[in-house]
Amino acid sequence: VRSVQSAIARSSGFVSRRSYSSESVPERKVAVLGAAGGIGQPLALLMKLNPLVSRLALYDIAGTPGVAADVSHINIRSEVSGYAGEEELAKALEGSDIVIIPAGVPRKPGMTRDDLFNINAGIVKSLCTAIAKYCPHALVNMISNPVNSTVPIAAEVFKKAGTYDEKRLFGVTTLDVVRAKTFYAGKANVNVSEVNVPVIGGHAGITILPLFSQATPKANLSDEYIKALTKRTQEGGTEVVEAKAGKGSATLSMAYAGAIFADACLKGLNGVPDVVECSYVQSNITELPFFASQVRLGKNGVEEVLGLGSLSDYEKENLESLKPELKSSIEKGIKFANQNG
Ligand code: NAD
Ligand code: LMR
Repeated sequence: VRSVQSAIARSSGFVSRRSYSSESVPERKVAVLGAAGGIGQPLALLMKLNPLVSRLALYDIAGTPGVAADVSHINIRSEVSGYAGEEELAKALEGSDIVIIPAGVPRKPGMTRDDLFNINAGIVKSLCTAIAKYCPHALVNMISNPVNSTVPIAAEVFKKAGTYDEKRLFGVTTLDVVRAKTFYAGKANVNVSEVNVPVIGGHAGITILPLFSQATPKANLSDEYIKALTKRTQEGGTEVVEAKAGKGSATLSMAYAGAIFADACLKGLNGVPDVVECSYVQSNITELPFFASQVRLGKNGVEEVLGLGSLSDYEKENLESLKPELKSSIEKGIKFANQNG
């Protein structure tokens, strides 16, 4: 635990826990909605280990008192509280700087992420309605699938409530980046901890577009290898769903990815310069209103949506092919949010 904690501390720009002082580390409250779930529990653990968090609110429809009691015994800075049931949602959200949402059902083999829409769209809508009411200025990290639609749903809910700020809404696509880095390092035979690969587009099948032409450290991989790596990254979620054989989708790697992204948001809020992560955000770098790309994070959330850089012909083709699906997932989310009151 100490080495994980110090790794996070080091990557957060703080040398060790002993160096804390109330002047150097701002108070930050993070709420996790869906905190008793497969992602929620390990994410609660990782957020507890993050020295940038001072209060950790764990909310779910049930089961959170146990998770909170468990995590709260860890001898690290933040105070942990569990909240169960809708009547406790307001308390969980009040004062939050970041709200992470892994609430909702996961896939089983044979399902697409869009097959989760009917259940998860309603969950996300009601949680975002509460966010607009109780912590309208929080940064929202949306994990619940289908991310390509749940982010537009959240935007519409916030617009209706008059609280929408496009700089504060993020679809978490970090797991695609985590996978692209791991798979690339394996094929390129480079140190995985040094790898960087931007992943653009969205978070489902062909809408996930890793830009291996921009991967560093450089490696001269054949077109065939690049295609295989692209496909594996796009199908990474399905690979886990199939391996879990009916017991859900990625939870541990997702918790890791969610913790990395939330940590980047915290650093941005705290004024750490040059924090860049990929995320699915409101965007005008393509004709689509939401698009994942590299984003610079800062005190207000998104400081800058970075451009795509130069793409290979293969990536250009894939970019054009993903647009119709991503567009229709966005429209589906917007329609849902506006149809149902
Ligand atoms: P899970 O079923 O293990 O946990 C989901 C939790 O959400 C449960 O504890 C459940 O009680 C809770 N929940 C349901 N309705 C709720 C509500 N109204 N308010 C609060 N909590 C509620 O599922 P999981 O494996 O943790 O996955 C959660 C979601 O994350 C799924 O939609 C999954 O597809 C998605 N996911 C996204 C990514 C990504 O990269 N963005 C990766 C993995 C999973
Ligand atoms: C993932 O990429 O692992 C998640 O979106 C979960 C899924 O359904 O694949």
